[in-house]
Amino acid sequence: MYRRILITSALPYANGPLHIGHLAGAYLPADIYTRFQKLKNRDAIHICGTDEHGVAITLSAKKENKTPKALVDYYHENIKNTFSRIGIYFENFSRTTRKLHYELSQSFFLSIYNKGYIEKRKVKQFYCENDKIFLPDRYITGTCPYCNYDKARGDQCEKCGKWLEPTELIEPRCTLCNSGPVLKDSFQYFFKLNEFEERLREYIASKKNKWKENVLNFVDNWLREGLKPRAITRDLEWGVPVPLEEAKNKVLYVWFDAPIGYISSTKEWSKDNWEKYWKDKDTKIVHFIGKDNIVFHSIVWPAMLMAEGSYNLPDEIPANEFLNLMGDKISTSRNWALWLDELLDRFEPDYIRFFIAYIMPEYKDSDFNLHDFKDRVNNELINKYGNLISRTLSFIVNFFESKIPDVELSEENIKDFNEIKKYISEAENYIENFEFRKALSTILSGVDYINAYIDRQKPWNLIKYDKEQVKRVIFTTIQLIRSISISFEPYIPFSTKKVLDAIGVLNYNWDSAKEIDYSIKGKGIKNIGNLYKKIEDKEIQELLSILHSRVLKEKNYITYEEFSKLDIRVGKVVSAQRVEKSRKLLKLLISLGNEKRQIIAGIGESYTPESLINKNVIVVVNLEPKKIMGLESNGMLLAAGEKPIILTTDGDVEEGSKVK
Ligand code: MF3
Ligand code: ZN
Repeated sequence: MYRRILITSALPYANGPLHIGHLAGAYLPADIYTRFQKLKNRDAIHICGTDEHGVAITLSAKKENKTPKALVDYYHENIKNTFSRIGIYFENFSRTTRKLHYELSQSFFLSIYNKGYIEKRKVKQFYCENDKIFLPDRYITGTCPYCNYDKARGDQCEKCGKWLEPTELIEPRCTLCNSGPVLKDSFQYFFKLNEFEERLREYIASKKNKWKENVLNFVDNWLREGLKPRAITRDLEWGVPVPLEEAKNKVLYVWFDAPIGYISSTKEWSKDNWEKYWKDKDTKIVHFIGKDNIVFHSIVWPAMLMAEGSYNLPDEIPANEFLNLMGDKISTSRNWALWLDELLDRFEPDYIRFFIAYIMPEYKDSDFNLHDFKDRVNNELINKYGNLISRTLSFIVNFFESKIPDVELSEENIKDFNEIKKYISEAENYIENFEFRKALSTILSGVDYINAYIDRQKPWNLIKYDKEQVKRVIFTTIQLIRSISISFEPYIPFSTKKVLDAIGVLNYNWDSAKEIDYSIKGKGIKNIGNLYKKIEDKEIQELLSILHSRVLKEKNYITYEEFSKLDIRVGKVVSAQRVEKSRKLLKLLISLGNEKRQIIAGIGESYTPESLINKNVIVVVNLEPKKIMGLESNGMLLAAGEKPIILTTDGDVEEGSKVK
């Protein structure tokens, strides 16, 4: 059994504000988990901080015309503040630019260097004479030697998926200024990852059936390819200096120093206690991360820890998948993001926490849809939990002079109370297994149970002829509310604090939620009025138009040449039918003059198949063929709107005419 739990969440880069994707990926699940563990009276701490090194930082600084230092100072404060607004609590939230972190990272490096796990190697590196920097792999573009794609990045070709070395690219260019970089001789330090291959295999094997499938699959793919030494230093000015005489002007690679930030932040939190959390065998280490961080946390970081030798290895790496926004990938460079601060300016933090937990991308990518946000919050959180609280408390105000009835419970009442234990135990199992969505839906079923209980008892009728029975029902209801609120606390801590406070519950923990609390018998309650205010459609519309206008403002131009690659033509619908088992998809046959094409289009919610026959449509005809639900689709129909409606022509033109 573990005696303490060290929980970390991925250190966010201090180069921009937090958006919903960050919250869903790591911070909310980590916070729910930590709050739950604390309710279980376990010794659990949540450790984090900002990741302040690396090219992500220096390039953002350049863009904003600031020094890296000024940039990270600003965003550290900004991020820390946002976390506090949304109730993500940390024992310590540090920074990787602090002295303690520099010292720890350097001694970590030296320790594995002295053990012979680091080697110096000559390298050839691209240098941009215009920007005056050594270019990191992903800031070089060129033509892929395998598939000829002309926008392959120096680390990987997006088209064919091959991992690349920048020197393999044909006609390499600097992504920043588009000039041709020069190759310069340099040397870097490489961590001999390959020497840990066997131990990593054993380590991963011990996690089979424990870790999430998405994490294990990722790791398997990597191990299958075999591990190679990896450069852990860079020629940059911003970063932790390599602690070797011969390596002036080199810094540690950001992914080397950042995870060490977990340790330095713990050490900063408590000089006396930090070692227990990292070195005692009865500590469990849990790293919450998003899926883009899996390789580093499941392979490179454990290998670094093995090499250093004095720390424990991670026990759990519950990684989430990605969260999309209104059906599109979140992209900060395209300005397609929903910032937490702008949500917090409009809505209760618990609305955001509730909804993100509700749609959390635990096993596959999921979508943040603002209409859905409104509906779920209004219909689930407010109608179910919020109304339960308001109607019960106002009943007590109206009929019992704001005092919780002082009664003895009957056996039947106790039986009705005991029902709630099922939900609480079930939620508990789910949370222990990182199944936060299932736990939430179990808690909501518990809320349903309480509402159904009241509806069955009908205290508003009963009050007319059996006040004693009403007292027992209301006391039971208050106990049920107390129990469910305790188990709801990890998800919506602001609300449950208000509720528990209103009914005078001061001391509680997870297990006490399964018992009746007689101490509140006869005590006064606080009338908190309505717990929530419903989200209105106009608030959603407003936010949506802000989101859309922001994307339009971002001038991501394409060239005429790029545009002219699209071959867009007028077609006529010849036949249409629904795709089996799909609400949205229609299978269309479209005539383009001499040629007929099958196209699968997601317009089934706005049209019946019959209504489309003989309609003119606009089609991108040179899009590569794609299989959708097993059916070939040869082109794309242009349409707009959330329930997409098609574009058509204003008058008749010949089928096959080019759109220009
Ligand atoms: N800053 C990285 C990111 O946002 C995460 C770093 S996690 C750590 O993707 F382990 F390195 F700290
Ligand atoms: Zn350049």
